[in-house]
Amino acid sequence: MIRLKYVVFGAIGLPVVLLLGAWIGFFNVGASSGHWKVTAWFLQLAMRSAVRTYALAVDAPKTLDRRGLPAAAGHFARGCAICHGAPGELRSPAVLRMLPQPPDLALTVGDWTDAQLFRIVRHGIRFTGMPAWPARDRDDEVWAMVAFLRELPKLDPNEFRALAFNGSGATTSSDQQPATPDVLSDCMRCHGGDGDGRGGAVPALAGQKEAYLLASLQAYAKGDRTSGFMALPVTGVDPADLAALARYFAAQPPVSADHDQVSAEVINKGQQIAEAGIPERNVPACSGCHLGSDKNPVYPRLNGQHAAYLERQLKLFRSEDRGGTPFWHIMATAAQRLTDDDIQAVSAYFSRRAEVPR
Ligand code: HEC
Ligand code: HEC
Ligand code: HEC
Repeated sequence: MIRLKYVVFGAIGLPVVLLLGAWIGFFNVGASSGHWKVTAWFLQLAMRSAVRTYALAVDAPKTLDRRGLPAAAGHFARGCAICHGAPGELRSPAVLRMLPQPPDLALTVGDWTDAQLFRIVRHGIRFTGMPAWPARDRDDEVWAMVAFLRELPKLDPNEFRALAFNGSGATTSSDQQPATPDVLSDCMRCHGGDGDGRGGAVPALAGQKEAYLLASLQAYAKGDRTSGFMALPVTGVDPADLAALARYFAAQPPVSADHDQVSAEVINKGQQIAEAGIPERNVPACSGCHLGSDKNPVYPRLNGQHAAYLERQLKLFRSEDRGGTPFWHIMATAAQRLTDDDIQAVSAYFSRRAEVPR
């Protein structure tokens, strides 16, 4: 009988005591004194075990795609270095007083597998300040970040700056510049001073249609098009500046993309799809909307665009994860019936059409 009394007291009394403790303000939530040793031990155990367990469900690629490195490095410099520091950039004293402290990742990434890093970067860590990825359904971007984190311990400050800031100092003497040159130089870190994009994953903007560029920037700013890489740079930019940026990049002369080796057979198949579609599967000819100067100004040019970028966008349209301008549904319909091989072929074809007048 006595034992039952203790159990009942434990089950009802303990929560009441804890609640009372919280209500009168007994628990110190200040960060300055750190956790009790046992709390710190418990939180680390819970965090590490949870990451390990949840990462079991992550399907990691055998080799990490390195084409997203410049974009990921560019994002790291703005979105992660503020807490974790970077090569040549110490963590600020303010951040070092966080509880828990954001670690210097160059020293700790080796403790984790690719799948575990993916899990951390994609979902963040509760109760620590470690944020989730700023865009949903963009696992490709998270994998690019994991590939970058693997490089991080090997980078010296100069190599990091070259990767993240594109050698920096990208300035221009054009009178088309937006009112805030800082914003433009931020764009150039990833899109290049010549607007040709970088690494295959950052699209070329040079010579793209102005109306499409502006509509896309507005879509990123409103969250109608999902990309963690683009969410940061467009946030807080004055709408008038977005228009100036679109004008600036549209006026740049197109640069031709460098190409991966692809067989002539693949290119021919791509040309076939571009010009005639795939009638038996109801895939429309891409040329109907993407070639010729008489088309809707919000239908983008694809000529000379990086094949890796085009492939990624088509896959995002296919799974309805891309979003975009108010016209994106049209593209989802066109992409739905394309196989991976079709996507590779048609992307390779358009990336090579640089020479043809757009
Ligand atoms: C607001 C501060 C903050 C920002 C911004 C931030 N992190 Fe973190 N991050 C943390 C904190 C705090 C931890 C430590 C969690 C812990 O120890 O429980 C952490 C942990 C991590 C870890 C696990 C490291 C380890 O060994 O424990 C990785 C990996 C990581 N962050 C990557 C990133 C990446 C990549 C970005 C940018 C996309 C980023 N973080 C942005 C605060 C931040
Ligand atoms: C951290 C690197 C990074 C920075 C900085 C950056 N971009 Fe981007 N940008 C990207 C990536 C990566 C994509 C492709 C995103 C996607 O998949 O939707 C992109 C896409 C775009 C697109 C869509 C192009 C298309 O063909 O649909 C536009 C327009 C654009 N960026 C303009 C800008 C402007 C203007 C700025 C400066 C305010 C800027 N970007 C800053 C990496 C960056
Ligand atoms: C009926 C018109 C139409 C047809 C046909 C069409 N598209 Fe599109 N496409 C669009 C529109 C509109 C967009 C812009 C979507 C947005 O960002 O909102 C677009 C965007 C794209 C993009 C993204 C470009 C970028 O810079 O991000 C790719 C890639 C693309 N289309 C490929 C194709 C391919 C390949 C075909 C043929 C199989 C095709 N499209 C057929 C209208 C069309």
